[in-house]
Amino acid sequence: MSVHKEIKRITTHTLQEFKESGIKISMLTSYDFSMARIVDSAGIDVILVGDSASNVMAGHETTLPITLDQMIYHASAVVRGVSRALVVVDLPFGSYQGNSKSALDSAIRIMKEAGAHAVKLEGGAEIKESVERILTAGIPVMGHLGLTPQSIYKFGTYTVRAKEEAEAQKLMEDAQLLESIGCFAVVLEKIPATLAEKVSKKLHIPTIGIGAGSGTDGQVLVLHDMLGITKEFKPRFLRRYLNLYDEIQNGVKQYVDDVKSRNFPNKDEQY
Ligand code: KIV
Repeated sequence: MSVHKEIKRITTHTLQEFKESGIKISMLTSYDFSMARIVDSAGIDVILVGDSASNVMAGHETTLPITLDQMIYHASAVVRGVSRALVVVDLPFGSYQGNSKSALDSAIRIMKEAGAHAVKLEGGAEIKESVERILTAGIPVMGHLGLTPQSIYKFGTYTVRAKEEAEAQKLMEDAQLLESIGCFAVVLEKIPATLAEKVSKKLHIPTIGIGAGSGTDGQVLVLHDMLGITKEFKPRFLRRYLNLYDEIQNGVKQYVDDVKSRNFPNKDEQY
């Protein structure tokens, strides 16, 4: 923690240095100014404006519906609340697949309009051209392999990926490809811990795991899950640090009671 406090601003180079010195990288999502400010002030290294905003902020079942404009709205609010962490923003579904020119345009909009520091894209070989084109504009790119929620209709379920040898082999190749073309880090989501460790040892760039065990170079969780705001989502990998759903509900119940019973406001709470 003390090491982190000394750093004024986390950059992609800081993360590389962390990997080389064996310092684990902490990453959480945020989608708005107020939360981002708290998360940043607590010493997080990377804030991801994830397209999980589609689930936790907008109530959609998947990450597919969120738009580029909506991601820019969330990201610009987050950037205003952050002074230390590296802010990475997801390119949403449909804004980069299959067309490297529109991938570049989407990434430029995120950097320019939101003031983000980097973008994240899901996939390996199939999005190589898009990643390369974004990198030519000097925009840092984080990869994302394993369970890639934008492909949920291809996978059919949110179960652990790359358990079979062929898929594990493809994931290793994709990770090496992303490193070779210039990604600064790769998220590994919901894959066996042994595979995640193998990939992390093979790559020179940092890996950030979610449901991928302790052998990755860093960890990421969705903020609303680890704070216990999302109540029903209980995957094995999730550690809940607070139970805010109940805490907030109790606070609101108390307020309702106080208003109804004329206990609020009292004499000191008026002009
Ligand atoms: O959108 C998101 O929150 C993510 C993390 C789960 C890595 O991509």
